[in-house]
Amino acid sequence: MAGNLRGRHFLKLLDFTSAEINDLLTLSATLKNNKRAGVRGHTLDGKSIALIFEKPSTRTRCAFTVACIDEGAHPEYLGKGDIQLGKKETVADTARVLGRMFDGIEFRGFSHETVEILAEYAGVPVWNGLTDEWHPTQILADLLTVQEEFGRLNGLALAYVGDGRNNMANSLMVGCAKVGMDVRIVAPESLHPDQGLVAQVEEIAAATGGSVTVTASVEEGVAGAHAIYADVWASMGEEDQIASRIELLKPYKVTQKMMEQTGRNDAIFLHCLPAFHNHETVLAKQYPDICEVEDEVFEGPQARAFDEAENRLHTIKAVMVATLGN
Ligand code: CP
Ligand code: NVA
Repeated sequence: MAGNLRGRHFLKLLDFTSAEINDLLTLSATLKNNKRAGVRGHTLDGKSIALIFEKPSTRTRCAFTVACIDEGAHPEYLGKGDIQLGKKETVADTARVLGRMFDGIEFRGFSHETVEILAEYAGVPVWNGLTDEWHPTQILADLLTVQEEFGRLNGLALAYVGDGRNNMANSLMVGCAKVGMDVRIVAPESLHPDQGLVAQVEEIAAATGGSVTVTASVEEGVAGAHAIYADVWASMGEEDQIASRIELLKPYKVTQKMMEQTGRNDAIFLHCLPAFHNHETVLAKQYPDICEVEDEVFEGPQARAFDEAENRLHTIKAVMVATLGN
């Protein structure tokens, strides 16, 4: 490992060097191979891990849970309404209580400030399982998936198409720039990322040989891209904006034509999931035009979303093992 990550929090990728991120990817690949070979880990033997969820989750919750069990730890799910976080007790007080009982704490929720307060007061490693601003564990899974596909990350181009100012866009910009990739945010102007963050990412990219482009033009944004990435048009907590987002983002739906506009036969499609790609879910029935990727792409040969979902397990395990493991 480039640096010893033991005892560190994992709140956002801006806090980690390129070498540390690459090391976490290497560890993820090792843990994935071990799991496939049936080799059990013991690096978290006897540890207890708190999993706090203010927002719902399939992949993140299951990845943390299974990763804990694979490495010998006990996961404890603390859902919205189960604990006093911020309601009858301050976040700092809850953090100090949980830190006396648990060896590590995962948090998924709304305000990024909550996970920062947990980290400040818990006295044990705190991992961000998604906030309104950042989703750092997702990016490790995305990068691992791209690396598995192309054998490298440096110099590859990834175009994120959709809501350019959400947790995924923010985190992908930082993560891709850190590993020397050419990252493009393709979004209507009203959903372009924060300019201060773009400036920070430009500095990172200048040091790694990567680059960052923000554009409203699909044609410009996807040309030459090795990967096209989509996320939902309205994130958790933004349900009241679904109708206006549909109007704004309809021209940014990932289609087979858009995959072809990359000009690369080997381009892949990525999605953090959950995805609107057909009309079978409750929300999709309510909003027939909500669909960030057409089924032809989502179910097609270029799609890697389920490899990516599996990689959530191996990468989240790597984060816990690196920061807390024996
Ligand atoms: N990608 C992701 O974070 O999925 P969940 O919301 O199901 O955890
Ligand atoms: N931007 C999405 C990501 C889900 C994994 C959300 O926050 O809902």
